[in-house]
Amino acid sequence: MTDLVLTEISNQVLTVRINRPERKNALTHAMYTALGDAIEQASEDTGIRCVLFCGSEDCFTAGNDLGDFASGLKGTFAETPVGRFLFLLANTQKPVVVAVNGPAVGIGTTMLLHCDMVFAGSNARFQMPFASLGLCPEGGSSLLLPSWIGRVRAAELLMLGGAFSADDAYRLGLINRVCDPSDTEAAALDACQKLAGQPPAAIRATKKLLSHPVHEQLTATMLAEGELFAERLKSPEAAEAFSAFMQKRKPDFSDFK
Ligand code: COA
Repeated sequence: MTDLVLTEISNQVLTVRINRPERKNALTHAMYTALGDAIEQASEDTGIRCVLFCGSEDCFTAGNDLGDFASGLKGTFAETPVGRFLFLLANTQKPVVVAVNGPAVGIGTTMLLHCDMVFAGSNARFQMPFASLGLCPEGGSSLLLPSWIGRVRAAELLMLGGAFSADDAYRLGLINRVCDPSDTEAAALDACQKLAGQPPAAIRATKKLLSHPVHEQLTATMLAEGELFAERLKSPEAAEAFSAFMQKRKPDFSDFK
């Protein structure tokens, strides 16, 4: 149990709010467990027709807690709290909508690739700084991103790890709409309520068909990424990146081979 993830059911919509403002909503193992539990609850409860993920008006999530990263991952990737969350998200039959304001770093961006609709505030900043942290892509991003936005654009975002705006994300086809930050959640909730009013079996069939072309390949990719990611977490490059973040300095990779 953690109060860093808040859930609420209203009008058949399960709202899942990431709530750790003092750490920019960075996600700990316990928070991934709570996020995974919420998806499981939605998958099992026929009274829930749609899931809404959100953070606050100025921050979605700073991604994985960097302190937790430094302590590594235990067990096979699918068994880790983050792996379990990603697989539940990728496989749930319920529609998932996201409201993103402010930073959406790392998994804060890659998790969106598994969601059905994404509404972002004009203050949203997406970023996948895996390589910059000595890590590698996760969450199926090495498969989904190049196939959606093209190889060279995916390489730029994943290799250089720069932040991109809500307008950029809209142009790339990664989000549905750019909103005023104070309206993002309302726009996302409106979509949830429309989805909740649709015939549920037809929505399940549509979701399955949309995921079908890459489903098997996605599972294999997520497992391969997870294995490599766990290795990279132990690398000296990652150690340098994490200590640089903690010490509020630029990392120095000049001596690495
Ligand atoms: N893990 C742990 N703590 C984090 C964190 C993370 N991923 N992201 C931010 N924090 C902490 C900061 O260390 C800071 O703590 P402090 O007040 O004790 O110094 C606090 O949250 C506020 O963060 P700060 O960096 O001051 O906020 P900002 O508004 O200037 O920048 C971000 C926000 C998200 C752009 C920036 O915090 C960031 O880049 N975080 C790291 C993101 C990251 O690399 N995630 C992993 C992705 S794979």
